[in-house]
This record gives sequence, C-alpha cells and structure tokens, in this order.
Amino acid sequence: MVLGRFRLDGKLAVVTGASSGIGRASALALAESGARVVLAARGQERLEAVAAELRASRAEALVVPTDVTDSASLDALVARALDLGGVDVLVNVAGGTPPTVALATSDADLEAAFHFNVTSAFHLCRALAPSLAARSGAIVNISSAMSHRVDAGFVAYGTAKAALDHLTRLLAHEWAPKIRVNAVAAGATRTEALSFVTALPELEHGMIARTPLARLGEAEDIAAAVLYLASPASGYVTGQVLAVDGGAPTSVWPMPIPSGL
Ligand SMILES: NC(=O)c1ccc[n+]([C@@H]2O[C@H](COP(=O)([O-])OP(=O)(O)OC[C@H]3O[C@@H](n4cnc5c(N)ncnc54)[C@H](OP(=O)(O)O)[C@@H]3O)[C@@H](O)[C@H]2O)c1
Repeated sequence: MVLGRFRLDGKLAVVTGASSGIGRASALALAESGARVVLAARGQERLEAVAAELRASRAEALVVPTDVTDSASLDALVARALDLGGVDVLVNVAGGTPPTVALATSDADLEAAFHFNVTSAFHLCRALAPSLAARSGAIVNISSAMSHRVDAGFVAYGTAKAALDHLTRLLAHEWAPKIRVNAVAAGATRTEALSFVTALPELEHGMIARTPLARLGEAEDIAAAVLYLASPASGYVTGQVLAVDGGAPTSVWPMPIPSGL
C-alpha cells in the first residue's frame, strides 16, 4: 500500500528549470507518478524535447517558456498554470550562480544570486499559494549543500541558498497545515551546471574521494527526493531541508582556491 502514497494521479505540478538536469528528472519522476506537468525554463526547444518524452509515456505536459528572473514572465506562468484548473505541486528548480571568491564578488553579483535563487522562488510560492492551499498542495525548493557547507568561491551562491532554506522553513510555518513546504539540499550532481567540475578529472575524482557514498549525485537521486516531498508519502513532513549529498556533511572540494587576500 505504501507505494500508492507516492502517486500523484490527476495532480498538476509546475516545475521550473524543467528542460535540463534536476528539473527535467523531477518532471519525469512526477509524471511517472501520474502528475500532469507544466514545464518552465527559458529555452522552448529543450522544453519541447522534455514534453515529447513525457507524452511518449502518455503523460500530459504543457510547455511555458519562462524567465524566472522576470516577474512578468513568472506571472504569465502562474496564469497559464491556473488556467488548467489549479496547482497541486510547485517545484522551484531554476537557480544557480557561478563560483567567485568574495573579493571578486560585487554587490550586484550578490543581489543577482539572491534574485535568481530566492526571489524568483518566493514569487512563485506567493502567487500560487491560494491555489496550493485550496488543494492541500506541496512546494519543493531545490537548495544546495553549499547552503550549509563552507568552500571558497561560494559566498553569493551559498548565502542565497541558505536564504532559500530558511524561506522554506518560514513558509512551512506560516502556511501549515494547508501547504507543505520542503527543500532538497543537493550535493554535487552530474548535470550541465556541474560541467566546470566534470571537465577536470582531478577535481571530480577528488570530490568523489571525499564523498562517503563515493560518487557524484545523479539528477535522478534528487528527483526521487522531490517526488517523496511532493507526494502524500511525505504527508507528515514540512519545513525540512533534506540533504541528498552522498553523506558528506562538510566540504568535498579537493583543491584550495586563493581568496586574493
Ligand atoms: N548540479 C549540481 O551539482 C547542483 C547541486 C546543488 C544544487 N543545484 C541546484 O539545482 C538547480 C538546477 O541545477 P541543474 O544542475 O539541474 O542545472 P542545469 O542542468 O544547468 O539546468 C538548469 C535549468 O534551469 C533553467 N534556467 C536557467 N536559467 C533560467 C531562468 N532565468 N529562468 C528559467 N529557467 C532557467 C535551464 O533552462 P534555460 O537555460 O533554457 O532557461 C535549465 O532547464 C539549481 O537551483 C542549482 O542551484 C545543483
């Protein structure tokens, strides 16, 4: 019986960053569990490719090209999703910020990281909250192990993801019991965003050597956690940041990065 609690038949899920990596894998997982999925990212062509994959397995998918850094674009996404009759699940995946040491990080860089990783997710949470609340919905935010680990180069990204973690807890508290809000703190996961690591075998092998489960994450590892947190399987869980990081509580970065001081 317990597997039935992972089903999302007839539910509508909105996934940002859905054309690649963790977002694509999450969209596929939610659809496999029966959800209809609204796929959002900037590039239409890659979104259409994911939609074709979903439709090939008889899932329903709607492509909505969206720039999450643009509030008008987010509002258009919300309107399209609500037109379908109400949203049950929101997965905020789009985010990320290239590593830069603190002395080379401008105020504008910090604000851009915050806008991309936090404000965009908050905007969608707030705009969809009435619909989610009416349907006992769930929100899953994709955070990062860098929200709590310390490594040189991640002052903007880590600070923004730490804010996303606490946004998750605060919204979970404010919106309980009507909406559950959780996050997944992903460790290094083999996607396009990690190509700066996987292009350097020495760096990749060093990170694997420092990871207890002795490999990088795959997008499907994160998607499985997303499905758990989005579905009734986690119906008694809210305000949590679930680490899916190979069991590494601290830095796995193998090389020193000069701070410039
Ligand atoms: N990979 C990792 O090691 C790792 C670890 C921890 C956390 N994360 C987090 O996981 C999330 C996804 O990363 P990923 O590794 O799956 O990256 P990815 O494979 O590069 O995918 C990024 C996705 O976000 C979309 N996107 C980028 N900018 C966007 C914007 N302004 N508006 C809407 N969509 C946008 C991209 O499509 P378009 O370019 O077409 O818009 C793409 O669909 C991020 O929040 C990242 O911080 C990743």
